[in-house]
Amino acid sequence: MNVLALLKSRFQPAIAALISDPARQRELLEMIRVAQDPKFGDYQANFAMPLGKQLGKSPRDVAAQVLSAAKLDDVCQPAEIAGPGFINLRLRDDWLADQIGAAVRDERVGIEPAARPRTIVIDYSSPNVAKPMHVGHIRSTVIGDALCRTLRFLGHKVISDNHLGDWGTQFGMIIYGYKHFRDDDAYKANPVQELGRLYKLVSRLVDYRESQQALPEAERKLSQRQAELAAQKDAAKSPDKQVAKKASDAIRKLTSQIAEQSDAVESLRRKIAAVENDPTLVKILADHPDIDQAVLAETAKLHAGDEENLRLWHEFLPNCRDEIKRVYGRMNVQFDYEHGESFYHDRLAAVVEDLRRKGLATESQGAICVFLDGFEAPMIVQKKDGAFLYSTTDLATIQYRMENWKPDAILYVVDHRQSDHFDKLFAAARLWSYKGVELQHVKFGTVMGQDGKPYKTREGVAEGLESLLNEAVSRAAHIVAENDPEGHLSDAEQQQIAEIVGIGALKYADVSQNRTSDYTFSYDKMLLMNGNTATYMQYSHARVQSIFAKGSFSPEEIRRDDSPIDLSHPAERALAVMLMRFGDALAEVEADYMPHHLTTYLFDLAKTYFTFYEECPVLKADTDARRTSRLKLCDLTARTIRQGLDLLGIRAPEKM
Ligand code: ARG
Repeated sequence: MNVLALLKSRFQPAIAALISDPARQRELLEMIRVAQDPKFGDYQANFAMPLGKQLGKSPRDVAAQVLSAAKLDDVCQPAEIAGPGFINLRLRDDWLADQIGAAVRDERVGIEPAARPRTIVIDYSSPNVAKPMHVGHIRSTVIGDALCRTLRFLGHKVISDNHLGDWGTQFGMIIYGYKHFRDDDAYKANPVQELGRLYKLVSRLVDYRESQQALPEAERKLSQRQAELAAQKDAAKSPDKQVAKKASDAIRKLTSQIAEQSDAVESLRRKIAAVENDPTLVKILADHPDIDQAVLAETAKLHAGDEENLRLWHEFLPNCRDEIKRVYGRMNVQFDYEHGESFYHDRLAAVVEDLRRKGLATESQGAICVFLDGFEAPMIVQKKDGAFLYSTTDLATIQYRMENWKPDAILYVVDHRQSDHFDKLFAAARLWSYKGVELQHVKFGTVMGQDGKPYKTREGVAEGLESLLNEAVSRAAHIVAENDPEGHLSDAEQQQIAEIVGIGALKYADVSQNRTSDYTFSYDKMLLMNGNTATYMQYSHARVQSIFAKGSFSPEEIRRDDSPIDLSHPAERALAVMLMRFGDALAEVEADYMPHHLTTYLFDLAKTYFTFYEECPVLKADTDARRTSRLKLCDLTARTIRQGLDLLGIRAPEKM
């Protein structure tokens, strides 16, 4: 049951009788919300004020008119109009009791599947395989997996696709590294580790060469801005107020630009110095002065079908994929498809050809470009040297997905730093022919360390994802042991629970943040027993379960009992209202693809349950009927938590 949707559907005809524009009707209906304060009821409708203004009537009269036209009496108690025209809605207790009774008997805890299921492709995780996965990849994987699970549960046809970066310059780097710097014994012993080392080595040297080339221009820009600043400072002294005001605005803008530009110059200088201070690297550079060009050439050869490079790529790829697979296994994440970039290679020439034939792509300075309205720079689909780009592959990917899966929506769960790429990609795709499909960049912020900078380990390299999982699990093991001083759990059980708790904590910490903001990574916070954490939710779930064990009641039997639910205690009623909001929370996740609405809800549910548990004895209830009714509320709470966690890819152990 989705209570908000039900209430909106009940108000809809009454609003439609007053306002004919469907968009405006929807806007007004959006003003029906969960009440901020239970004093004002369970739900609140705030549309009477704007509606009154629009109709030139008193909001209180409009509220009364809408209320008399809307059929609500089977769901709500007689509504109250408060203040300037707020409509306070209280659900009827008998209606609530019936709904809770139905949810208790229902395997889906009362959530109906979508009336109009959509086909949704979710592109997520998508790491570049030759590099070790890092903390940033957790966000895409965890958010993407949560969206897949939630949308699927809501009845949509979800196709998950891991768009692996298995064809880019990083392969040119490891091929070059393998040819020139490999340690045969190390490669034999652990190919992925050796490839990782080669990748790091070569990418550092390429980065050095690129920084060296970029530095003069960066310095020139910096001094230009500094000169502009000096000029504006003079202008600011002008007696002409307007001139002075303009100058002080410019000074403010320039100052921030200069700060940014000096950071950029500093970072280039640091990268250069770090390499130049390392004699081994200096020596390698002397022998490989054009390493950046050579790496590009290796990538180009691979793409052109060079036999040796292709053979190496086929040799490296399975190793890289196995490594990633292990991490997915640990995180319990599966994909329907893993069409990496290489999968689309043979389609790229035809994509560019088609765009040219339709007059959408044109040559500019040797490159083939798609010019898009509203963008300064065009989208390049083929470089001067014939190479295709990330964008070309993404266009081919859209074409493939549309031809094969005919989705209603394609969601890309990718770092916010790629916003510009996706804005252009979507504009180009629409221009090309894909107008009906919803294309969404489900973007997320950066994972930050406690120091306020992007999360890094001590060595300054983003930590391998696996060591991150290990650390979370080992910390969870301490907590599990501490919580079981009498040793009720065997060592094996403790270890199993620690894995569920540790990985759950990591996932929950990530999805419980509004995904668009940066989030601060902290093991201590994510494993808190008391707070908006997976650990707290898992613990609450286990505690509810323990009531059944303690009283030797079987949840299955309780579910089959058909005596009515009793909500006469305010804490019982509050819990019932909260349980009914599960559907609202899932609808919110669906509306803006933000899983944190679900964690916020689960946390509220756990708190409401806690109050109920404090105030309403369950096993010691004064009558059998009351005990059964309360056990049903307990059972539905535990199942709702378990279902909610499951939609986030988090398991809930029976004992903790
Ligand atoms: N491999 C890319 C990266 O790690 C992300 C790919 C996202 N998906 C896409 N279709 N572009 O930055």
